[in-house]
Amino acid sequence: MSLPVFPEIDAARAAWDLSSISLAEMDEAGLAQLRARFVSKKGEIPALMRNLGKLPQEDRPAYGAAVQTLRETVEGSLDAAEAAVRDAALTLRLERETLDVSLDGADSAAGSLHPLQALRDELLDLFVSMGFEIADAPELDTEWFNFSALNVPDDHPARDMQDTFFVERKEGEEPVVLRTHTSNFQPHAMRDRKPPFRLINCGPVFRCDADATHAPMFYQIEGVVVDRTTNFANLKATLYTMVRSMFGEKAQLRFRPSFFPFTEPSAEMDVDCRSAGLDRDGWMEIGGCGMIHPNVLRNGGIDPDQFQGFAFGFGLDRMTMLRHGAKDIFLLSAGDMRFLKQFRGLA
Ligand code: DAH
Repeated sequence: MSLPVFPEIDAARAAWDLSSISLAEMDEAGLAQLRARFVSKKGEIPALMRNLGKLPQEDRPAYGAAVQTLRETVEGSLDAAEAAVRDAALTLRLERETLDVSLDGADSAAGSLHPLQALRDELLDLFVSMGFEIADAPELDTEWFNFSALNVPDDHPARDMQDTFFVERKEGEEPVVLRTHTSNFQPHAMRDRKPPFRLINCGPVFRCDADATHAPMFYQIEGVVVDRTTNFANLKATLYTMVRSMFGEKAQLRFRPSFFPFTEPSAEMDVDCRSAGLDRDGWMEIGGCGMIHPNVLRNGGIDPDQFQGFAFGFGLDRMTMLRHGAKDIFLLSAGDMRFLKQFRGLA
């Protein structure tokens, strides 16, 4: 008895044989096309299967078996080819992402510290050399630490003046803000340790404000010194040391009487641009300072009859711009390589 012949199955097999000659070189898209053409619901093999019912009863088993064999061949080949494509892609990716840890760092000169970071490191080193300890404080803090502990009354315009970002809280929960100044570190520091101490904090602060000289996030560096006899002359000497280390020994400073709720007396400190070697006339304000207000000491758990101290807080972005003659504060956060490359080799 001769085996029945099914020309339509033979035709489909021939079509498959022809299409799959270069299976090994196909990419994902090519393989997906073949899968759609032969084995998807609307493909050729399921179409052959649908003919089964039209055949004479006795031919059906052989026909069904032949279509099934063809389906297994096609699916097996496609599965293998797809797996090979995935493996090749993975191998390629692993090769590309390999990091040779034995490289000698010959290329490392291409990178450099951001000018802001370079100045921060330099100033922190300087303050550590003057006996300061680096202290931390939360960037997301309670309104109490950011304002109340610093003697800023509840209804004081300073709370609006600093364009505070308030964090959404449920009714009755303690108000939380993105810290508007590094001064929030003062009450934390005072409560965490016993005087005498000299502490320095540097980090981001946040204000809802943006133009060429104000960014919604910027950096401040803030110091606090508490001891029994610490006085304004000590404050001036400390700040002269800081400014002269940045701008040279000839740099001149000016202290203008000012007001901050957390210091009494308070002053604003300006640097004389010419004497600091800068290419411009006039005075440039860098930040505020003063003798710590007794209420702030009290809120920090320190007896103001026993201890006194000074504090200062400066804009690091401002100092960086001043130092390098940059005019737009956004250059510091824009990540523009043309700007950043100019600072190679600085640190
Ligand atoms: N916190 C003030 C501000 O952001 C700056 C400041 C002024 C800090 C006087 C101080 C200080 O520690 O004593 O504008």
